[in-house]
Amino acid sequence: MINYQLQRRIVNETNITEVVSEYVTLTKKGNSMFGLCPFHNDNNPSMSVSDKVKMYNCFSCGAKGNVINFVSRIENITLDQAAIKLAKRIGIQIDERKNAQALKEERLIKVMEDANQFYKFYLKNSDEGVKAREYLNNRGITDEIIDEFEIGLSSSSKDYLYLALSKNNHSSLDAINLGLIKEDENGDYYDTFRSRIMFPIKNRYGKVVGFSGRIYTESNQAKYINSIENDIFHKSEILYNYHNAMQPIRQNDSVYLFEGFMDVIAAKKAGIHNSVATMGTALTTEHVNMLLGLTKNIVLCFDGDNAGVKAMKRSCFMLSKYNNLPNGIVLPDGLDPDEYLKKYGTEKLINYLETNKKNVYYWLYELAYKKMIPSDLVSMETFKNEVFEFLRTTNVDSIHSFFFKKLSNDLDVSVDKLMDEFNKLKPKQVYQSDNNEYPYNYNQDIATNKDILPVPDKRTTKLKTLKVTKKIQIAYDSIIKHSIFSKDRFAKFFEQSTIDSVLRYPGKELVNQYLILVEIQNFYAKNDYLGIENLYIILENSKELLDFAIEIVQNRFINVTLQENFDECLNAIIEFYKKQDQINAYNEAILSTSSNKFYEKSDEYIKLKEESIKIVRKENNI
Ligand code: CTP
Ligand code: MN
Repeated sequence: MINYQLQRRIVNETNITEVVSEYVTLTKKGNSMFGLCPFHNDNNPSMSVSDKVKMYNCFSCGAKGNVINFVSRIENITLDQAAIKLAKRIGIQIDERKNAQALKEERLIKVMEDANQFYKFYLKNSDEGVKAREYLNNRGITDEIIDEFEIGLSSSSKDYLYLALSKNNHSSLDAINLGLIKEDENGDYYDTFRSRIMFPIKNRYGKVVGFSGRIYTESNQAKYINSIENDIFHKSEILYNYHNAMQPIRQNDSVYLFEGFMDVIAAKKAGIHNSVATMGTALTTEHVNMLLGLTKNIVLCFDGDNAGVKAMKRSCFMLSKYNNLPNGIVLPDGLDPDEYLKKYGTEKLINYLETNKKNVYYWLYELAYKKMIPSDLVSMETFKNEVFEFLRTTNVDSIHSFFFKKLSNDLDVSVDKLMDEFNKLKPKQVYQSDNNEYPYNYNQDIATNKDILPVPDKRTTKLKTLKVTKKIQIAYDSIIKHSIFSKDRFAKFFEQSTIDSVLRYPGKELVNQYLILVEIQNFYAKNDYLGIENLYIILENSKELLDFAIEIVQNRFINVTLQENFDECLNAIIEFYKKQDQINAYNEAILSTSSNKFYEKSDEYIKLKEESIKIVRKENNI
């Protein structure tokens, strides 16, 4: 990780308009330079670049950041790689000494890439390959597609891959770690994948990190076997074809998410390039982050069977945490896109995909409805419960009311009655977020930092607490804005708001503000000036927090030139803490003694309780 000072220097000393114009034609409009945004399908120049603020900003798709961020995004390289590249421009030679982990990853990727070369060679140049290519061609996978997806073949012999890797001086330990070879009881090595068509799986940077091997002859073995999880292969972070699909996804501003990678290949044959697939796992938060970084329009194209419906519901729930409402498509007769293509041809597939994109809840309803036998009470009840179950994966009111009406029609039960029943179910959420204590749709980005959030004290949840008012919220926002531009002011806030010298967690309503302040604290521990450009760097891992912070910076009502404004806000927060402390003290007193039945009836206890309630009432205006 390149340190902040150096990042700051690169950002400050690089002319961002110069760098951007190497990729995009910029023209001057007023005080700014404008160009077509390369991160979405832009018809009118909507990206502004300013060397004064050292930032680019697209008004249309919201892409924004500093020059390091720009290069990393457009070249699809890591921020560090982008920083190293840019450092060279301004004459700084960065010592590219990598840590042991990075070196190891590079070495392992080399093993995978070499294995890929071998499999590809073997498909094209062996007798077995003839048969395998026949199978592929029969499935409509042409030589062109074979090259494009770098499809290969593992041999039926015991150790051809092992021998090939040894010849390239790779260590057998690495190959074992990667799951490419195994060791038998005699200490002999043998290949893990045998007689399988090999599909390389690449990470977001286009490097081979794993394989999926499919049988192509009669066999009672598993249809697919995948690489094991290892240092470079994490299924939860892999979307098949993501690297190739990035640009088309941006261009089309939409992505098809398929269940199988054969479907991605089928889509490609039909000329659809903006598609990806999970590797036989449910959608994870990492997947969602990868997709939402490119587009908000996700189309789930899953099988209509039980597993597909389950995956659809789970994905809906996952996406609803990000306030994202996906579309869905279910192909007829239980066909997957690959099978549909084979049966009806490319044109029909494209046509179906384009015309049947509907809100995913529509599909879930249709699929459940199809199974219902009208007038059979048990089946009607099952149907209703199924609809309730998927409705609970979203918080969107209009969806609820739409489907209550539909359900009321189909079951001949009043909407009110259905709603009543549904609301009774609510507390026992089927799809529970793993972080119940945070808002239902809190952004998962924050989860990367969640371990720094204090665990709420279960005992006090039933006790009185102060409501976080709008005023306090604004006070926190102000403190953030002041802190961005002044280390001294942050230090003052920090000093005042520390108890046991830790930054205090002000409650879940202020979770974003808290997380930003923690990042600011970390930054100021080593640096003297934050400013907007470094804000992008310290919040680079969380788009939600970054957007949140930018909004605060842009809030014109917070005037950082006024020391009074800062003092006022700080005082409001201190007051808030004080009252909270008072109430906590009462709560604690009550807790520590309330197990005593006699004490609960005592005057002292009643007095304490009344006082605490009074403060809460007064503060919350009730
Ligand atoms: N899968 C797996 N192991 C299996 C079966 C499936 O890992 N034994 C994963 C694969 O990633 C596959 C996905 O689940 O892409 C979907 O499975 P399925 O629908 O059975 O595969 P298809 O894409 O239809 O493959 P094919 O057309 O080759 O049968
Ligand atoms: Mn299939």
